[in-house]
Amino acid sequence: MKAYVLLAGSENVDSLNLVERPEPEPGPGQIVVRIRACSLNYRDQAIVTGRYFGGKLQRDTIPLSDGAGEVVATGPGVTRFKAGDRVAGTFFENWVDGPPAAEARPALGSPLDGTLVEFRIFDQRDAVMIPGNLSFEEAATLPCAGVTAWNALMAVSRVKPGDSVLCLGTGGVSMLALQFAKAAGARVIITSSSDEKLKRAKAVGADEGINYKTSPAWDKEVQRITAGRGVDHIVEVGGTGTLAKSFQSVGFKGNICLIGVLTTGGDTNPHPLMLRGASLHGIFVGNRAMFEDMNRAIEVNRIQPIVDKVFPFEKTREAYRYHEFQSHFGKVVISV
Ligand SMILES: NC(=O)c1ccc[n+]([C@@H]2O[C@H](COP(=O)([O-])OP(=O)(O)OC[C@H]3O[C@@H](n4cnc5c(N)ncnc54)[C@H](OP(=O)(O)O)[C@@H]3O)[C@@H](O)[C@H]2O)c1
Repeated sequence: MKAYVLLAGSENVDSLNLVERPEPEPGPGQIVVRIRACSLNYRDQAIVTGRYFGGKLQRDTIPLSDGAGEVVATGPGVTRFKAGDRVAGTFFENWVDGPPAAEARPALGSPLDGTLVEFRIFDQRDAVMIPGNLSFEEAATLPCAGVTAWNALMAVSRVKPGDSVLCLGTGGVSMLALQFAKAAGARVIITSSSDEKLKRAKAVGADEGINYKTSPAWDKEVQRITAGRGVDHIVEVGGTGTLAKSFQSVGFKGNICLIGVLTTGGDTNPHPLMLRGASLHGIFVGNRAMFEDMNRAIEVNRIQPIVDKVFPFEKTREAYRYHEFQSHFGKVVISV
């Protein structure tokens, strides 16, 4: 079978090589999935350039955490799946529900081998059925970006109809957050560097858009739009460079979900939260139970994740380069 491997010490996408590997055989409790589509996350850019937590890759690694496909073989004792089931793997191995186990939660794509491969073995514990209304390309957007957005808005923030949600940028996490927030009946304000993307976000359901390049004081815009009340929930994918403005955008008893690392520097003094009785909540993707809850909501609400562009497997390096420059809207997908 074909697989892409990122060489140990990778600093750029030139280290991504197409190789032949033996097809895997399932052991007890395992399934073999014919991967049909994978999606790229910001994290994958950090891994390929050696900037991810823990530094450069220590060994040759199959990249990407997110993939969807169909079960083609099951090992002894498998009860959760059968051949032909349409599934996706979870971002973390061995985090089913509740708090994670005391031992580390290893993640796909680093340190574990990922999904950019034709056939991948999963423990049956670490896979979920994908929503029936999604193509493999759409379902491949979910394991990292989808579960993160779901965890932030639904598991932690418990968005209610009539609440206000601020999403930063129009990347993978933010667009899925926009879709979940709208399905929950919230008012969504979204920011972007591009008026064109803001127009597209409104077509997906955003109520208000702010261009953070032409309106660098976007926190003041949020206050204006909300008549000085601030928003109830913030999907904070920016990181330390946007945090001060998120602190100025959140309303009384609001919640900021700390998710991203897109920016550096900036003032991270948390005292504005004190004045607002607001909170900052860390998010690290999520567990399998959240993934399953999200999939039910996607199916019932007929949510179609936004796929910006699909690249064929042999154009994977081009997909990485396209995604790197952040001209995408929603998700970039590779068909396998
Ligand atoms: N903690 C977790 O569990 C977790 C999980 C998933 C992702 N993340 C993190 O969340 C962030 C987003 O990930 P992603 O995969 O969704 O990224 P992505 O799809 O690559 O999206 C990047 C988008 O972010 C927007 N952006 C960039 N700089 C910005 C800024 N200064 N202010 C507002 N928006 C800005 C841009 O949108 P426009 O083009 O519209 O300007 C850009 O297209 C990353 O830092 C990633 O590491 C964390």
